[in-house]
Amino acid sequence: MVQVLDGKALAAQLRADIGTRVAGLVAAGHPAPGLAVVLVGEDPASQVYVGSKVRQTAEVGMRSIEHRLAADVAERHLLDLVERLNADQTVDGILVQLPLPAGIDSTRVIEAIDPAKDVDGFHPVNVGRLSSGLPALVPCTPRGCVMLAKRARTDLAGLHAVIVGRSNIVGKPMAQLLLQEHCTVTIAHSRSRDLPGLCRQADLLVAAIGRPEMLGDAHVREGAIVIDVGINRLPTADGRSRLVGDVDYARVAERCEAITPVPGGVGPMTIACLLDNTLTAYSRRRGIPA
Ligand code: GUN
Repeated sequence: MVQVLDGKALAAQLRADIGTRVAGLVAAGHPAPGLAVVLVGEDPASQVYVGSKVRQTAEVGMRSIEHRLAADVAERHLLDLVERLNADQTVDGILVQLPLPAGIDSTRVIEAIDPAKDVDGFHPVNVGRLSSGLPALVPCTPRGCVMLAKRARTDLAGLHAVIVGRSNIVGKPMAQLLLQEHCTVTIAHSRSRDLPGLCRQADLLVAAIGRPEMLGDAHVREGAIVIDVGINRLPTADGRSRLVGDVDYARVAERCEAITPVPGGVGPMTIACLLDNTLTAYSRRRGIPA
């Protein structure tokens, strides 16, 4: 029987634990951790994500600082805001929602964030520290994926993990985390030859492509653990829409040992890990054990 990896429930547990830790800090006279979220423009998906981040930050008792800027804002203005947030001692974490509008250089913005406040783990200092095996702030989505995979198998050592997608947000940091778990790691991408054949080698298959239901029967071997990072909106016949992953869940679920659903799998874990990273940043920067 396939194990459905319930990210919604696991994320709720994590948030409850974070809420308890924050309450303990505040009761001991420490300030509540503060998370600044910056949204530029009006991308509908980004608006939904940022709304959830702001709400859940407040729910665990942290301070949420929200900045919304117009799509045509000057890059200099955004960089100045990041500088102010870096200098603001009440801000422990800074997240600039991606993608940024055309005309703004995301790399420059990410590099402007103080690495100690970089709760996304996207700054080159954190990327380098992660790949060197040093303590780092680690990207939220891959962290959530590893936590979910470990619900299926406590010990991932020796598994062949195939990651489809090589983004800085998911694919590349995912590879680093799975190496730390002692997996054999393959990163496949749009130029890989024989993608189905590569995927069928996977004991642990991570789909982070951004194409609705792209991985199906031909890609998943019997008994694989499948982690689906995709969140794609597909129009339905009645003029509405539904969320689907990068994996054709209905076709492959039965043959898996374990699989994450969409929605309710990886998605909720990302925000829970963001809150956890904020607590880590708070505690390291201020020297307060949390
Ligand atoms: N856009 C999609 N995923 C993410 C994420 O994890 N962090 C940020 N900042 N933007 C995103």
